[in-house]
Amino acid sequence: WWSHVEMGPPDAILGVTEAFKADPNPKKMNLGVGAYRDDQGKPFVLPSVREAERRIVGDKLDKEYAGIAGLPDFCNQSIKLALGANSPVVTEKRNVTVQAISGTGALRIGSEFLAKYSKSKVIYQPTPTWGNHVPVFKFAGVDVKQYRYYDKTTCGFDEKGALEDIAKIPKGSIILLHACAHNPTGVDPTREQWKKISEVVKKQGLFVFFDMAYQGFASGDVDGDAFAVRYFIEQGHKICLAQSFAKNMGLYGERVGAFTMVCGDTDEAARVASQIKILIRPMYSNPPIHGARIASRILNDPELKKQWLSDVKGMADRIITMRSQLKDLLKKEGSSRNWQHITDQIGMFCFTGINPQQVEKLIKEHSVYLTKDGRISVAGISSNNVGYLAKALHDVTK
Ligand code: LMR
Repeated sequence: WWSHVEMGPPDAILGVTEAFKADPNPKKMNLGVGAYRDDQGKPFVLPSVREAERRIVGDKLDKEYAGIAGLPDFCNQSIKLALGANSPVVTEKRNVTVQAISGTGALRIGSEFLAKYSKSKVIYQPTPTWGNHVPVFKFAGVDVKQYRYYDKTTCGFDEKGALEDIAKIPKGSIILLHACAHNPTGVDPTREQWKKISEVVKKQGLFVFFDMAYQGFASGDVDGDAFAVRYFIEQGHKICLAQSFAKNMGLYGERVGAFTMVCGDTDEAARVASQIKILIRPMYSNPPIHGARIASRILNDPELKKQWLSDVKGMADRIITMRSQLKDLLKKEGSSRNWQHITDQIGMFCFTGINPQQVEKLIKEHSVYLTKDGRISVAGISSNNVGYLAKALHDVTK
């Protein structure tokens, strides 16, 4: 029956983990998927998450279905975290926020809505962007085009290229912006650059799809990392937002996220909410409850929230320390390359700038696993193996 089905390629990111698992080398490192590890290289459950979970289990809650839009309290807390509790969008109840199956699920809900109701069915994404952004939108029926974002020569933001390309995007199209900690490059615009982007986007009358998968992870400051989203709202842009709690709460496998459409008034919000529910119901009926309960407990309880903010800061700081150790050790190894971008870039990833042959050598000869584009997950480096990584990186780049 299925003889015509061809073998597909492994996933560009998750396929790296499969290859890593099959490697018997005890020194192997998995720097492919963006998943935080502690300094012993072990998966990390945040103390705030453990405590919230303990309380939830203690409460002996039932396991009834959530509504199609998920847990209302989680949705309220989630949007307040993104926009700030005093945002007029929140106080005027102009947001439609639904629980989503993590960031990917939020993107998918948004793309389904755009495919059905947006006048333009074209989204412009930065080059490069997270590998999954392309199929998420394409499979929903939204055409994907690009704008310049990353400058290979500086390993930084291509301000001129981005502004030029955005200024040429046909009026009324959709643009995807990474709210903070751009994946895969770790390169974010400065606040001044965000203001320039906002101006051009406004001039072209673009609808903005913000993907915020790393709030708190970029700088350790959840409000600072939400700058772009909040600024764009202040400037009167029309936006929607995908949020993920995979990284900032370490809730990867629990699949906790939210999708928000910011509307003009409560009447529009009610209509949009009704249609989003109609889209969700045949996809997965309603979302899972456990992870969303954890997130809403944390965000509701001042003491747990304080603990969480310190947990996030701890993770962000460890990543920053690994960046500077890696840069210093490369120098000590005698590398004459400029590795400044390792510490200039932010968030979970470092876009090393190495070429595909060097990536292959790193994998084959050193068992250091990473994606083909040269991205490494800094969160996968620890004090024990940063030296090994520096040696390996130097070896393939000398
Ligand atoms: C990544 O980019 O590694 C993460 O966002 C995980 C994923 O699902 O790809």
